[in-house]
Amino acid sequence: MIKLDLQRISNALVLPLLEGGKGISISTGETCGAWAAAGAIGTFSGVNADSYDENGNIIPQIYHGKTRQERRRELIEYAVAGGIAQAKIARERSNGKGRIHMNVLWEMGACEEILTRILEGAKDCIHGIVCGAGMPYNLGEITSKFGVYYYPIVSSARAFSALFRRSYKKVQEFLGGVVYEDPWLAGGHNGLSNAEDPNMPQNPYLRLVELRKTMNSFNLCTLPIIIAGSVWWLSEWEDYINNPEIGPVAFQFGTRPILTQETPVAKAWQPKLMSLKRGDVKLTRLSPTGFYSSAINNKMLSNLLARQERQVDIVEDSSLSVYVFGRKICLDATAKDSVEKWCQAGFTVPMLTPNNTVVFVTPEESRQILSDQKNCCCCLSACRFSSWCQRKGTTGNIPDPLSFCIQKSLQRAAHTNDVENNLLFAGHMAYRFAEDPFYANNFIPTTQQLIDRIMTGC
Ligand SMILES: Cc1cc2nc3c(=O)[nH]c(=O)nc-3n(C[C@H](O)[C@H](O)[C@H](O)COP(=O)(O)O)c2cc1C
Ligand code: SF4
Repeated sequence: MIKLDLQRISNALVLPLLEGGKGISISTGETCGAWAAAGAIGTFSGVNADSYDENGNIIPQIYHGKTRQERRRELIEYAVAGGIAQAKIARERSNGKGRIHMNVLWEMGACEEILTRILEGAKDCIHGIVCGAGMPYNLGEITSKFGVYYYPIVSSARAFSALFRRSYKKVQEFLGGVVYEDPWLAGGHNGLSNAEDPNMPQNPYLRLVELRKTMNSFNLCTLPIIIAGSVWWLSEWEDYINNPEIGPVAFQFGTRPILTQETPVAKAWQPKLMSLKRGDVKLTRLSPTGFYSSAINNKMLSNLLARQERQVDIVEDSSLSVYVFGRKICLDATAKDSVEKWCQAGFTVPMLTPNNTVVFVTPEESRQILSDQKNCCCCLSACRFSSWCQRKGTTGNIPDPLSFCIQKSLQRAAHTNDVENNLLFAGHMAYRFAEDPFYANNFIPTTQQLIDRIMTGC
């Protein structure tokens, strides 16, 4: 057994183990309530969560608005109703035990409005808000008004320092902890900065020591650091527990809890997860958010990676040219043979990208890309794929056919059984499902069984 002392987190004594919030609809009121009922901390995703009709069926998120602004309002209403619904389920399932946290993405569309309205509607069900994907400067101010704790997700001491100096120092009372998410290894969006090399992972220990030093310099010596990213067996993290250089810690699990009885996608995702080998999760920059992210290299991801290879530079004048929407575009003539090869293989349609290139796709892909861009419902504050921007209406850039609609893809990954043609976020340790004897014979544990197992150290 691992010796983990109970800790006061979000004002209750709990096991210092957290469910990593996973959107869309992977971590839900059901999963969150189960983590809380086990005396730990559950986290449901408040990102476009599901709500239900009077018969308990999921309400499909269908958009009727003709303009982006109209669809954006619909998305906000779905998101608020979904967040409140999941919070209530989590409270009911928790039996009053543990803690209930909600995860939101700072760069999701209308984050501040959605967060505020969910807290207005379900404040009594939610003890903490966990927020990453961006720099959530206003997070503390919003949650403090409701007496709810807040947990920024950072991937470096520098990011936390900027957040604290600029805003959190004014609302320290409800700062519940700091989530350190390994930007090279964690599932979902990753907080790699431009200064960090995606191919050169750094030692988490040294980065955690730096974070603790920074926190101590702000007198946050007793505030827990929640370690996330590649945590599988706690026996591998014993050096981090009760270590004065790192101070109080808790552990967040994102990928492991995908396989629990309470997780809605567990059965559909299980064969894919159990088939993974080391290296089958890729860190890419394909997300329309512009952030790095880690996902399973399934058909969808490998198609997008292959698409990147079919780009040709636009030049002023050349013997090689194509027409895009009736406009003649000159291309780097050295790519002539490649273009011929791609066209023969069916990639006959050139599309402009924001990188001063054109990319060759199939006619069907081209139709799908244009239709997805047209149907944008503004789920992000700014989107590379559709050029939507909530401040100005458009980013001013060319919509990027190298990216994709993450809203559509994540909704489908959660609500259909298609694990090949949708985005499956996962951490880089996901290959361990196949190696860990706990999952032998396709065993899917309950959340309580998973937590009991985690406490054994392996
Ligand atoms: C399928 C999936 C979806 C995720 N979605 C989110 C999300 O919506 N918001 C967020 O802050 N983190 C998200 N994460 C990150 C997790 O909360 C967690 O921090 C991370 O997975 C930890 O690393 P691990 O995957 O190695 O356990 C997601 C992770 C996965 C695997
Ligand atoms: S196009 Fe971009 S902003 Fe619009 S719904 Fe899709 S991912 Fe969200």
